[in-house]
Amino acid sequence: MSNQFTRNIIITGGAGFIGNHVVRLFVNKYPEYKIINLDKLTYAGNLANLKDIEDKPNYKFVKMDICDFDGVLKLMQDEHVDGIIHLAAESHVDRSIKDPFTFAQTNVMGTLSLLQAAKAYWESQPVPYQISIFNSKFSIPCRFYHISTDEVYGALEMTHPDGIEPPFTTKASSGKHHLAYGEKFFTEDLKYQPHSPYSAAKASSDHFVRAFHDTFGLPTIVTNCSNNYGPYQFPEKLIPLFINNIRHRKPLPVYGKGENVRDWLYVEDHARAIDLIFHKGKIAETYNIGGFNEWKNIDIIKVLIQTVDKALGRVKLETTETGETIETYPDMALITYVTDRAGHDLRYAIDSSKLQRELGWEPSLQFEEGIEKTVRWYLDNQAWMDNVTSGDYMKYYEEMYDNR
Ligand SMILES: NC(=O)c1ccc[n+]([C@@H]2O[C@H](COP(=O)([O-])OP(=O)(O)OC[C@H]3O[C@@H](n4cnc5c(N)ncnc54)[C@H](O)[C@@H]3O)[C@@H](O)[C@H]2O)c1
Repeated sequence: MSNQFTRNIIITGGAGFIGNHVVRLFVNKYPEYKIINLDKLTYAGNLANLKDIEDKPNYKFVKMDICDFDGVLKLMQDEHVDGIIHLAAESHVDRSIKDPFTFAQTNVMGTLSLLQAAKAYWESQPVPYQISIFNSKFSIPCRFYHISTDEVYGALEMTHPDGIEPPFTTKASSGKHHLAYGEKFFTEDLKYQPHSPYSAAKASSDHFVRAFHDTFGLPTIVTNCSNNYGPYQFPEKLIPLFINNIRHRKPLPVYGKGENVRDWLYVEDHARAIDLIFHKGKIAETYNIGGFNEWKNIDIIKVLIQTVDKALGRVKLETTETGETIETYPDMALITYVTDRAGHDLRYAIDSSKLQRELGWEPSLQFEEGIEKTVRWYLDNQAWMDNVTSGDYMKYYEEMYDNR
């Protein structure tokens, strides 16, 4: 009986990297909510990410494609859904360059299908579920929360290649590093200028979400977040891929000269922001989420090598000509420069001061702390890594779901 719960929330893409952290946070923190993880289980979705909570009474997994409008609508009706937190997407830029159709299908059409199902279901409900153009009858917290990326804003100029003191201070940045590579930052009012098929598809989905608010009064919120890192990320993305390669002493392919700058946020800090915004964010608002934590790719890679080499006891001590003893990292030799990604945006830097100011959110971790935790997690969970890299888990899903 879904009515034993005070809220019934669909989280899409809950088996993916960020999704599993959001599902875990909600299931553990809100036993009075029913959390329905709706996921198609593409190559990026992995139910092993949720082993620790899969038997909780307030958790349910539903294997479904967000593009299946009838399926989503029926699920909303059956479960009396009053909230959607939408993370499901195709998320890897390199894949979007090879196969843009899948990105348009999932990210644009899938989001539209969810919006249309939410509108149809919530409009069919008597007050207090009913919504109106001006939200005047909107007296329950039903809402459609869409998770997006900073990549929709396009690229920022790198006016200070050596780094300057940024205008912000926050816990997330390391005391040692805390640099910005330009004066401009992504703010919520910036015009969208996506460059990759991935960011173009995400931008389009953001526009649809806002259009459903403006046209139909659907209670929507959009957030745009910077690069996440942390446990359970599929190892096609830089940080888990490189940790695994360093461990196995495989080459570390760096695009161009590794000069591209990204802002990095620990994934659990993103999940905490999502929790806060879902509950306290203002309808129709956009919030940027980021760590004020800009790093050049090449510097991140060096930090990863140092952290992994230290953890695995590979650091060497050498004496310089002046008699000084210094630490050297043999795996620096694994760095290999490869042809740059087509249309590779130079710098992303999020200004998340609105979220800090209005809702009091701040990242909780210093970057070094987050990286150390992350490296330790991947090294301690080699079985997880081997499983996702061997494709065994996809075979398991085929057996579980497709051959029935
Ligand atoms: N990873 C980042 O650094 C980052 C940063 C900012 C925003 N985002 C956004 O956050 C969201 C989650 O990103 P992620 O890194 O966790 O992605 P991910 O690729 O790890 O996970 C995506 C999940 O969506 C599921 N999915 C894909 N297509 C689906 C479909 N048609 N129907 C149902 N489920 C489907 C997959 O099975 C997977 O579980 C995305 O919307 C992404 O654009 C990611």
